[in-house]
Amino acid sequence: MNKITIAIDGFSSTGKSTVAKRLAKTLGYVFVDSGAMYRAVTLYALQNGFIEKDCFDQDQLVDQLNNINISFKFNEDLGFAELFLNGENVEKEIRTLEVSQFVSQIATVSEVRKQLVKQQQNFGKDKGVVMDGRDIGTVVFPDAELKLFMTASAERRAKRRYIELIERGDDVVYDDVLENVKTRDYIDSTREDSPLMKAEDAIEIDNSNLTLEEQFEKVLNLALEKIELNE
Ligand code: CDP
Ligand code: CDP
Repeated sequence: MNKITIAIDGFSSTGKSTVAKRLAKTLGYVFVDSGAMYRAVTLYALQNGFIEKDCFDQDQLVDQLNNINISFKFNEDLGFAELFLNGENVEKEIRTLEVSQFVSQIATVSEVRKQLVKQQQNFGKDKGVVMDGRDIGTVVFPDAELKLFMTASAERRAKRRYIELIERGDDVVYDDVLENVKTRDYIDSTREDSPLMKAEDAIEIDNSNLTLEEQFEKVLNLALEKIELNE
C-alpha cells in the first residue's frame, strides 16, 4: 500500500493528538506530536532561567538552540513515542499549565520554528506519518495528501483540558485553563511566522459536539478514502 502524509492542525484541545495517535496506530504509521517539541523548548527555557516572571530572554534562548536535543522513543507498552529532552523523558513535565502559559510566546521565535520544522520534515520524509500541530498543512507538509483542521468552542476545549489536568493530579482552576486556551488561540493565530490557519485544501471538522469515538471514525474514513485514491 502506498503511504500518505496526514497533517492535522487546529486549535488547542480539539482532540488532534488523541486522534492522530490512534490513527497512526491503526494505519501502522508514525505519529509525531509537533506541539510537544515546542513544549520541550519551553521547558528548557524555564529550567535554564531564560523565562522569569512574564519576560523571556529570546537572545539567550536562540544562542542555546544547538544545545537542545529533542528525540522521540517508541514505548511498546504505551503504543506511541515519548519525547526526550537531552536524553531525559519529559512527557509529564512538558504538559503542565506552566509550560502552556509560555509555549505560544516561544513558538513565535522564527529561529526556534526553523529548527523544529527541519526536524519535523525529516521525520516525515518517507511518508507514512500522522503529524499534528498548528502549521503542518501550511508549512511543514504543504503537499500532504490529507489535511484536517480541527475546531471546537473555547469553552468545550477548556473543559476537556481542565478535566485532563485534574485527572493527572495537577492543581488547576478552570478559569485559568480557559484563559490559557483563549490566549494561545490568539497568539498562535496572529503571529507573523507560520500563524495557525486552515490550509486552503484542508477539511474542517468542528468537534464541539462529537465524542472522541465519532471524531476518530470520521478521520479514519477520510484517511482510508485518501489512501485508496493514492493506490
Ligand atoms: O495540545 P495543545 O493544543 O495544548 O498544544 P500543543 O499541540 O501541545 O502545542 C503547544 C503550543 O505549541 C501551541 O499553542 C503553539 O503555540 C505551539 N505550536 C506551534 O506553534 N506549531 C506547531 N506545529 C505545534 C505547536
Ligand atoms: O492535541 P489537542 O490539544 O488538540 O487535543 P487532545 O490532547 O487530543 O485532547 C484534549 C482532551 O480533549 C483529551 O482529554 C481528549 O480526550 C478530549 N476530547 C474529547 O473529550 N472529545 C473530543 N471530541 C476530542 C477531545
